[in-house]
Amino acid sequence: MDDALLELLEKLAKFGEDNDTRETERPKRMLNITRDTGRLLWIIVRATGATRILEVGTSNAFSTIWLADAARSTGGRVTTLELNPEKIALARANLAAAGLDVVVEIIEGRAGETLAELPGPFDLVFLDADRPSYPTYLELVVPKLRPGGMLIADNVTSHAHELQDYLHRVKSHPQLFAVTVPIGNGEEIALKLDDRL
Ligand SMILES: C[S@@+](CC[C@H](N)C(=O)[O-])C[C@H]1O[C@@H](n2cnc3c(N)ncnc32)[C@H](O)[C@@H]1O
Repeated sequence: MDDALLELLEKLAKFGEDNDTRETERPKRMLNITRDTGRLLWIIVRATGATRILEVGTSNAFSTIWLADAARSTGGRVTTLELNPEKIALARANLAAAGLDVVVEIIEGRAGETLAELPGPFDLVFLDADRPSYPTYLELVVPKLRPGGMLIADNVTSHAHELQDYLHRVKSHPQLFAVTVPIGNGEEIALKLDDRL
C-alpha cells in the first residue's frame, strides 16, 4: 500500500463520514467500512494470497479499493456487486483515481440475481449490502467458495440483532468454522472447511 493510495483512502473515508452526517436518505449514504476493517481485509487478502475475490455491496468503492490493492499484488481480481447506478458511477471514478479499475469488475443489479449467475470459485467473499439478504447470500456463496476460502460479513456487532439468523446459520454451518472479530462494525469471519479434521 503506497502513501498516495493511503492518502486517497483517507480522503474517501472523510468524504463518507461528512456525507453520511449530512444525508438522511439511505441510498445517498456511503456506509463505508471503517479504516481498520479495510486494513484487516487488505491483510487477509495478502496473507492468504486470495486472487478470486467477490464483494457484495460496492457503494463508492472504499472497501473495494482496499481489496483491489491487495489483489493487485496477489495477481488477483475483485468482482463487486451493486444495484445503485449513482454509486456505481462514484465507484468507477474512485477506482480510476486509485489506478485500480483494471483489477475490478463492477456488476450492476440485485445481488441475489447477479450472484446466482456467477460461477465461482472464490477465495474470499465480503458481504456488505442489504442485511436481510445475508442468509440468502450465505446459501448462494458457500457452494462457490473453495475449501479453505473465507466468507467475511460486515456489521455483525453494530447490527447484531438484525443479523441474528445469519450469525446462527454461519456459526452452525457444517462446512464453516467462524468467529466474530470485534473490529470496526464487527466482522464475522468464516473459513470453509476441507476434509481435514
Ligand atoms: C454498506 S454499503 C457498502 C459499503 C462498501 N462496502 C464500502 O465499505 O465502501 C451497502 C451497499 O449495498 C448496496 N445494495 C443494497 N442492496 C443491494 C442488493 N440487493 N444488491 C446489490 N447491492 C445492494 C447499496 O446500494 C449500498 O451501496
